[in-house]
Amino acid sequence: MQALWLMLPAYIANASAVKVGGGTPMDFGKVLKDGRRVLGPGKTWRGFLLGGLAGTVGGALLHVLAPGAGGAMTDFGAGWAWLPTVAGLAWGALLGDAVKSFVKRRVGKERGAPWWGPDQLDFVLGAWSVAFLAGAGWEALGLGPNPLLGALTLPVAVIALVVTPMLHLGTNWLGHRYGQKEVPW
Ligand code: CTP
Ligand code: MG
Repeated sequence: MQALWLMLPAYIANASAVKVGGGTPMDFGKVLKDGRRVLGPGKTWRGFLLGGLAGTVGGALLHVLAPGAGGAMTDFGAGWAWLPTVAGLAWGALLGDAVKSFVKRRVGKERGAPWWGPDQLDFVLGAWSVAFLAGAGWEALGLGPNPLLGALTLPVAVIALVVTPMLHLGTNWLGHRYGQKEVPW
């Protein structure tokens, strides 16, 4: 359960981007020399900024709830250390998703085309990377040890890598079924 709890800010960010996305694309419509968009129309500023905010606010609520949930749920760090953790997880998820889209366009896959593996794990790796960097900054400022390293143990990471793709496919299928998403993956 701890593995999923830790991933919740990233899940919330990823899912809300679908809901709140739209408007100006992150690449401003720019096309590269290969004739393809930098990121494509599926990555918008609104999705990135508001989705990340939703993940961060959601993570803050979860952090408050963690003690009530008992030992099964970790909080996201001592003192204010939850903030770099949940904000890093939330915006990192969407950054990882955008990096994936950049590579996806370069290998010639259209927006929304399935790319099994990267489509399901992009946001996990992005979330961990940015949360790690945010935590490293926290530590460098002398505010405390890197909070991500306290939460992301090897078993937690392995469980998250196995369970996330399944959850992701399940929620996307539901999102498609109920008209929130164009494709069922
Ligand atoms: N979305 C958004 N802004 C983001 C991320 C997602 O607006 N930064 C919205 C878009 O409407 C997008 C949807 O969420 O179509 C689903 O996201 P995702 O599956 O990541 O994008 P795809 O449309 O599949 O595009 P790609 O092929 O580039 O992954
Ligand atoms: Mg997709």
